[in-house]
Amino acid sequence: MKDRLAILGGEKAVKSDPKDIFDWPIVNKEMEEAVLSVLRKRSMSGIDITKEFEEKFAQWHGMKYGLGCNTGTAALHCAFFGVGIGKGDEVICPSVTYWASCLPVFSLGATVVFADIEPDTLCIDPLDIEKRITERTKAILVVHYCARPADMDRIMKVAKKYNLKVIEDVSHAHGALYKGRLVGTFGDASGFSCMTGKSFAIG
Ligand SMILES: Cc1ncc(COP(=O)(O)O)c(C=O)c1O
Repeated sequence: MKDRLAILGGEKAVKSDPKDIFDWPIVNKEMEEAVLSVLRKRSMSGIDITKEFEEKFAQWHGMKYGLGCNTGTAALHCAFFGVGIGKGDEVICPSVTYWASCLPVFSLGATVVFADIEPDTLCIDPLDIEKRITERTKAILVVHYCARPADMDRIMKVAKKYNLKVIEDVSHAHGALYKGRLVGTFGDASGFSCMTGKSFAIG
């Protein structure tokens, strides 16, 4: 029966229950023990495990620094602050993303200018970025949307030409590669959400 498609009565190639994809993240005994060990030490804040995670995450990306934050939104807030976004500045963001990619821009007194996305990647369109640049533009926010890397070569070229900072929102694309290089390593700073629904889900 192996040479017949399942739809024609052959053996099924995928045997797992389709509803299993909604059981996420996978939680095993090892994870439960790791959490319990932190609780048992009664030191849930500013502890070694966070520092170890920061170091390993930075190392994985070949970066010098990693900073653990309480949410991806806070991580992006740090990134925007870190590159100096402030009152009166404009940040060019993709018009399709989760709202938290852009919201920290307002918290810093700056404003968001939306750019179009590309039909094949659903990520920000480098040609449209260029049309949105004004004398107030300070940075470009790139979201590697639904695990599809944005066209970083063309985006970095525009950023260089106009002397703009680049922030990458890697919340949908942990471990994704653009031309063999990890996304999140192209711009000036990156933020990663690790909330429950993400592929790298640690809360
Ligand atoms: C693209 C994107 N950016 C940022 C965030 C914000 O992350 P968090 O929910 O961890 O604050 C999310 C979360 O869903 C997201 O999908």
